[in-house]
Amino acid sequence: MKKAFVIGFPIKHSRSPLIHGYWLKTYGIEGSYEAIEVAPEALPAFFERLRTGEFAGGNVTVPHKEAAFRLCDIQDPETAGIGALNTLDVVSGADGLRIHGRNTDFYGFAANLDQQAPGWAEGVDAAVVLGAGGAARAVAARLAASGIGRTYILNRTPERAHRLARELGGTLEGRGLGDWPRVAPQARLVVNTTTVGMGGTGFEGLDLSLLPPDALVTDIVYTPLETPLLAAARARGLRTVDGLGMLLHQAVPGFESWFGVRPEVTRQLRQIVEQTL
Ligand code: ATR
Repeated sequence: MKKAFVIGFPIKHSRSPLIHGYWLKTYGIEGSYEAIEVAPEALPAFFERLRTGEFAGGNVTVPHKEAAFRLCDIQDPETAGIGALNTLDVVSGADGLRIHGRNTDFYGFAANLDQQAPGWAEGVDAAVVLGAGGAARAVAARLAASGIGRTYILNRTPERAHRLARELGGTLEGRGLGDWPRVAPQARLVVNTTTVGMGGTGFEGLDLSLLPPDALVTDIVYTPLETPLLAAARARGLRTVDGLGMLLHQAVPGFESWFGVRPEVTRQLRQIVEQTL
């Protein structure tokens, strides 16, 4: 029986056991997926436990995404530049088991837009990422890889945006939030990666009327499902995509590698998770 896990601190609010449990049942797989609370100081010992082969792999959530990245033996080349990960695979090496790490938020962000707004990157000359924290890294890296002409990272603390753009390179540019009026008129894609929106909070002074009329606004916050930013965008007639799909899609590659079936993100799964929000 294959076993997988999600580790975090705290971990009881994680929806990952619900998502993976649903797929295990749907595909009739004899496996398990459990939430394990691991305190930051216990993370290295947990990695040692993984090297005993008890688990096929698992997910990593807050606050371990950066520390786990540093503890891995092998990094996925496509997502190593992000500097944070959410998915681990236990693989055989020449001298025993090794821990392979990758960031499937990078994949989930795009897969959600592919499903909800097909062609989302086509002909987009400029995009805006709001925020420059941990969650912004995977999104900005994905946009840099998507053929979008320029991606502006706008952050309350501009230095953090400059640093992130410098680290990830490519077509990214770091700015302060005050630059919104200068970049918004060209931005056909806006992604909120900040914590603004959680619990119904909103941005001050982000004038959505400056965006092109066909702009797509998406949020990675999913509590509430329709954040004030998405509600304001919808009220202006802009296209919107909520953040729940990214949570569901980021889970797909991990499940596939641990349990051997590529699972589908269905309407029913979405409804089941939505009921817990
Ligand atoms: P995460 O790992 O979830 O991204 P984080 O690293 O703490 O969390 O980053 C939170 C992001 O939300 C940051 O970009 C933060 O801006 P600062 O870098 O200036 O702190 C942003 N943020 C949080 N509260 C905000 C607010 N009230 N207005 C604008 N941005 C905010």
